[in-house]
Amino acid sequence: MNILMIGGSGFIGRHLAQTLAERGHSVTVPTRRRERARHLLVLPTVSVVEDDVHDPRRLQKLMADQQAVINLVGILRGGNGTPYGAGFSRAHVELPRKIALAMQTTGLRRLLHISALRAAATAPSGYLRSKAAGEAAIAAVRGLDVTVFRPSVIFGAGDAFLTLFARLQRCLPIVPLACAEAQFQPVWVGDVAASMADSLQRDETFGKSYELCGPEVYTLRQLVAQAGVLSGHRRPIVGLPHAVAYLQAWAMEFVPGAPLSRDNLRSMQLANISSGGPALPFGRQPMALETVAPGYLKRGG
Ligand SMILES: NC(=O)c1ccc[n+]([C@@H]2O[C@H](COP(=O)([O-])OP(=O)(O)OC[C@H]3O[C@@H](n4cnc5c(N)ncnc54)[C@H](OP(=O)(O)O)[C@@H]3O)[C@@H](O)[C@H]2O)c1
Repeated sequence: MNILMIGGSGFIGRHLAQTLAERGHSVTVPTRRRERARHLLVLPTVSVVEDDVHDPRRLQKLMADQQAVINLVGILRGGNGTPYGAGFSRAHVELPRKIALAMQTTGLRRLLHISALRAAATAPSGYLRSKAAGEAAIAAVRGLDVTVFRPSVIFGAGDAFLTLFARLQRCLPIVPLACAEAQFQPVWVGDVAASMADSLQRDETFGKSYELCGPEVYTLRQLVAQAGVLSGHRRPIVGLPHAVAYLQAWAMEFVPGAPLSRDNLRSMQLANISSGGPALPFGRQPMALETVAPGYLKRGG
């Protein structure tokens, strides 16, 4: 297939592009900055184009000669507001709507869209509420064959999660940790990529949503400890009281690129775990974190 992969220059995109290329698909990745996607250029059937995916005419042009679209665009910091900040609105709601409408206009039907586990209009964070609104915006556009994926937090080479915890422990004598008891069911990026690629061939996935989770539930404290052990720099972890964590997150909102915001804390009020179905679709067995993470954490991420 010829596939347009929007938001494909990031962490998941890197792994999914490789999986799709290995399966013989041709993938076009639009990016705001070609430089960000240069790691994809080594893949034989993957091309990178600098373009503005927020412009409906550019989107329609990008969709010419494609057979499927994958939307991976997502941000963790989209500002504050009710029901969500302006950044979340633009990236998680307006853009998916524009993508779906451009597909309808160009007659393209197949869309894979990545949302987030526990996305809901009533969720405590703007991130999760905007992810739910994005799903709804796509569902409101008629005539598309959509499959939605809702992953828990994702680990794998190049992640911004275990790698960050490992790096922090290399630099800090202790780790002050917000929401230490928050629960996650981390899923390997290879399983995310394979599940998404599998769905391209499966008509029964049209109109369905799939949770993507790993085999085990961990607290954030356990994950940070695990990252410390696996990278060889385990430090003491000090769980922060809620008020201190909130102040820390508020202060970080003034630091460009900082890894935490008050909205992230609100997301962690909900257990980021499976709602009870299979961890992965299509009979796939999820890879354990302990099997994969040592390989890349020992190399530094
Ligand atoms: N990683 C996880 O643990 C996790 C868990 C659950 C759900 N998800 C979801 O999975 C998706 C991919 O995650 P990821 O970890 O691969 O993210 P990532 O590494 O941060 O990559 C995000 C991509 O989105 C694009 N992007 C960001 N803001 C944009 C904007 N305003 N307009 C247009 N493009 C924009 C970036 O493209 P440029 O090249 O243009 O910068 C980049 O390719 C996201 O929707 C995320 O919410 C991720």
